[in-house]
Amino acid sequence: MSFNSFGRVFRFTTWGESHGPALGAVVDGCPPGLPLTEADIQPWLDKRRPGTSRFTTQRQEPDQVRILSGVFEGRTTGTPISLMIENVDQRSKDYSEVAAAYRPGHADYAYDAKYGFRDYRGGGRSSARETAARVAAGAVARAVIPEVRIRAYLVELGGDAIDRTAFDDAQIDTNPFFCPDAAAAQRWEGIVDNARKSGSSVGAIVECVAEGVPAGWGAPLYAKLDSELASAMMSINAVKGVEIGDGFDAARLSGEQNADPMRPGNDGRPIFLANHAGGIAGGIATGQPIVLRVALKPTSSILTPVETIDREGQAAEIRTKGRHDPCVGIRAAPVVEAMMALVLADQKLLHCAQIGV
Ligand SMILES: Cc1cc2nc3c(=O)[nH]c(=O)nc-3n(C[C@H](O)[C@H](O)[C@H](O)COP(=O)(O)O)c2cc1C
Repeated sequence: MSFNSFGRVFRFTTWGESHGPALGAVVDGCPPGLPLTEADIQPWLDKRRPGTSRFTTQRQEPDQVRILSGVFEGRTTGTPISLMIENVDQRSKDYSEVAAAYRPGHADYAYDAKYGFRDYRGGGRSSARETAARVAAGAVARAVIPEVRIRAYLVELGGDAIDRTAFDDAQIDTNPFFCPDAAAAQRWEGIVDNARKSGSSVGAIVECVAEGVPAGWGAPLYAKLDSELASAMMSINAVKGVEIGDGFDAARLSGEQNADPMRPGNDGRPIFLANHAGGIAGGIATGQPIVLRVALKPTSSILTPVETIDREGQAAEIRTKGRHDPCVGIRAAPVVEAMMALVLADQKLLHCAQIGV
């Protein structure tokens, strides 16, 4: 009923708030004997960390992870792995306006409507600080699926899309936007700068590709790999849409255009001539790359005044000060990767549980 856990066999629970002393995750169901150290987890957290460029929030969090349990002499023991990240740069005074009135688009009103009481400092549990814990858990998941390579990058920001013909994998880690198109990354600097200077914010679309997923992972019907992934991605803060493969565009194609034609391969496995399905058919992986996109809304905490109501239900106006991401989609890319890893690790173990390999 409290919904702080995700996964079936490889299951994790996150805990903590934006302005508490620390946050973290407990990962249960991880197989024993896998090499795992804090140094394996830290690089993924560093990718999501705030304050690394002028295009993200200026909150300075080192996001140093500590493994508190479940690992002995650099290997997982098969017992719960507890991961902790300290919060060191909280400024609760920044949030006095959020205590009194609700930020439209944020979770403030909905949390009060449900719980009648909320930790308003930095959004409390609804803050995307929580996603640091997912990224740490995702690093553990990667140890379970070494055969899979996962990549997430931005394909659109503020309505400005990349040029697919200029797609360069090597560009993704060389600019602050996880953008595979160098010219688009240049344009996006101006878009984000303008948004921030004008007290506004912009949305983004993150694409994620997982290569090396064997045909057979996944399940039919009520646990379709599509639905597991959609659920995982929609659970990320500010995500308002998920597409798998061609997604909504598939509805505009004919049957023959949308087919992924198959030819015989050398090892008995098919060669696919297209991947409109995004690597999943019938809820089960086909062995093609898994491809999905998530749409992230613009940050709701903005300096531009917005009409709202206060806690007494009276008309009010809110300008959200404090430190915020002008485009939450940028730092969401590592979170999308983590959720992909967490779902696939779970699917691998579920597949082993039913099929035995
Ligand atoms: C990486 C990341 C960073 C975010 N940073 C902010 C932020 O600085 N300010 C803000 O208002 N929302 C931020 N958000 C979005 C809010 O957490 C989210 O909108 C809020 O919890 C309400 O949930 P919902 O948008 O999913 O409905 C961020 C989201 C992500 C994924």
